[in-house]
Amino acid sequence: MGKIILTQDGSHSMVSEQFGEAYHSKYGAIQESQHVFIEAGLEAVSEDLNNIHLLEMGMGTGLNVLLTYLANQTLKKTIYYTAIEAYPIKNWQELNYVELLDLDEKAQHFFEQLHVGAWEEMVQLSEHFYLKKTKTLLEKISLPKDHFHLIYFDAFAPNAQANLWTEDIFEKMYKSTALDGILTTYCAKGSVKRAMKAAGFGLEGLAGPPGKREMTRAIRK
Ligand SMILES: C[S@@+](CC[C@H](N)C(=O)[O-])C[C@H]1O[C@@H](n2cnc3c(N)ncnc32)[C@H](O)[C@@H]1O
Repeated sequence: MGKIILTQDGSHSMVSEQFGEAYHSKYGAIQESQHVFIEAGLEAVSEDLNNIHLLEMGMGTGLNVLLTYLANQTLKKTIYYTAIEAYPIKNWQELNYVELLDLDEKAQHFFEQLHVGAWEEMVQLSEHFYLKKTKTLLEKISLPKDHFHLIYFDAFAPNAQANLWTEDIFEKMYKSTALDGILTTYCAKGSVKRAMKAAGFGLEGLAGPPGKREMTRAIRK
């Protein structure tokens, strides 16, 4: 189980006892998720695409799911969100996202449902948002081919989980990405970028969120 911690933008994150790692940047969980996944990922998906198939590696606190739902109030796409999470959290009610993001009743209900809802099936959580949570190890999962327009790659850092940042794993991601699809991650480590390149992705180095110089966006060309 994880312990809740406070990050510097006032938002909560967690520390995994199993991996000894925080779920987000200590400089700000919301700030990081918004920058790396929403701005560099969701908002970079082609405007012409109305149905977005999205994969998240490591659902954790559900913050990326929630921020995606909130951003989609403006984008107005239909989102089919698959979230891989091998070790679901139990103490999500202690997280301060509801207060901090000043969520209305609908959004509060969304946040609750994303945690208590069924696993292993695509569940409609709102008019334009479908979520399938899958409780599987990334190493073990089999994914559809050429399918995802967007991947949020949010495993713990390579020093804690070297086995998830390999060429083999990125090849699996690449094969599951649709043409012109995007994989976005906070990590900009040289060996990780080389593994992504070797798997076939084209890479862009972008400025990281506050406290971090660089992040990576990978594109399937
Ligand atoms: C950096 S945290 C993700 C934070 C999350 N996106 C959030 O917004 O809270 C990494 C997540 O990956 C999960 N995880 C770790 N190893 C995994 C594996 N091999 N397969 C699937 N999930 C894994 C952890 O339980 C954790 O929730």
